Amino acid sequence: MTLWSGRFSESMDNTLWELSESFSFDHVLYAYDIAGSKAHARGLAKAGLLSDLELSAITTGLDEVAKEFETGAFVRAEVDEDIHMAIERRLTELVGEPGQKLHTARSRNDQVATTLRLYTRDALTQVAQASLTLAEALVAKGSEYSEAVLPGYTHLQRAQPVLLSHHLNAHALGLLRDVDRLMDARERMNVSPLGAGAIAGTSLSIDPSFTASLLNFDAPFINSMDAVSDRDFVAEALFAFALLGIHLSRLGEELVLWTTQEFDFVKLSDAFTTGSSMLPHKKNSDVAELARGKSGRLVGNLTSVLVMLKGLPFTYNRDLQEDKEPLFDSVRTSLLVLRSLAGAVESATMNVERMKSASSDELLVAIDIAEALVGEGIAFRVAHEIAGRAVGEAVATGMPLSQIIASSPKLRKFAHLFEAGAALANRTSPGSAGPETSVYQGKQLAESIAQAAARVAQGR
Ligand code: ARG
Repeated sequence: MTLWSGRFSESMDNTLWELSESFSFDHVLYAYDIAGSKAHARGLAKAGLLSDLELSAITTGLDEVAKEFETGAFVRAEVDEDIHMAIERRLTELVGEPGQKLHTARSRNDQVATTLRLYTRDALTQVAQASLTLAEALVAKGSEYSEAVLPGYTHLQRAQPVLLSHHLNAHALGLLRDVDRLMDARERMNVSPLGAGAIAGTSLSIDPSFTASLLNFDAPFINSMDAVSDRDFVAEALFAFALLGIHLSRLGEELVLWTTQEFDFVKLSDAFTTGSSMLPHKKNSDVAELARGKSGRLVGNLTSVLVMLKGLPFTYNRDLQEDKEPLFDSVRTSLLVLRSLAGAVESATMNVERMKSASSDELLVAIDIAEALVGEGIAFRVAHEIAGRAVGEAVATGMPLSQIIASSPKLRKFAHLFEAGAALANRTSPGSAGPETSVYQGKQLAESIAQAAARVAQGR
């Protein structure tokens, strides 16, 4: 017999039961549901709907149920349709009549919305923290190899030499925006739906702002129908996870490339690589491939929830139960990928020589020749053409570009641009890839990281 079986004379078909039960996945919400119930019980007591004795029986009973979940001692009863029913059923077994009063002035509709917000609020903070840790690992790796230079690519063709730290910082900045986005979503969602009831509130004199403050929400809901229908917070969290996933997948793709024998810019530690079941010599960058591959689910989970929400009439519909698995999956996936990548980055060894030799490709100096000509008053388009012709000659004759420049009466004064490190040192405009500006960039990043850390700490 379920807790709602009063008006039914036949028991539920087994297939429908399997279709509709959610305990198998929503049991992970137990701690949040219990926190919500404890606050609700205090609200009922404040409204005179529970005696002090009943309140303390409920509170102790709920703590007992929480302990059962923590220790794995909780036994699901056949009638436990979802985590909310399971906890109430068990509570009532433990404490008797007070347990039967807990659901006064509450529906599973405002209950599940409250529980899920509490879960999402924590999840956003955790993912933000893990994103920050990865950003810090990237910045630290750049500082560890502060002088390392590699080619920056456009179209995956060598473009200009850049400091390794400049490249890794670029990934870190995306992650810092993720931290901000996650914490923005957290701020917006921190509104309590508790007290909205099934749809229209209640005739009993509860105070939603009291329970909201007990649960550290910034405010109670304004409109009971919005409170039970709204899943914007799930969609927004899923979007933040999806975009984060895209960033992780772009980082993953570069690690995949950089660990190939062809690039050979980086070696991942044994702890963060995998072997092949057949080929004894293989050491694969599965961590980076999975970072790339898992982004698919993060985007998919966002899509499922948006499609599920589309066209749903107000207010609660059982469709909404489909918000949970995508959300749980995205939280778990984001955390796993972030933590694995952080470990992989922290323990990676950069092949400084190899990156340097790739970036000393002389053709990468062509832009410096053109810019040097601009310095002499030549229009950039003309300068581009002159440098381009020299490159064309180098490619056609197989002669090094430096030699072609040295043997040209008009261009030989630029021969020094081919000296080691000259092209990189020439990148002096604000925010550029050279060593001179990297000092200021380092300061800016340190500030951004400190700000992000403070924001995450506030969410804890
Ligand atoms: N398990 C449901 C969910 O996840 C909550 C229950 C609300 N069910 C209902 N019939 N009102 O959305």
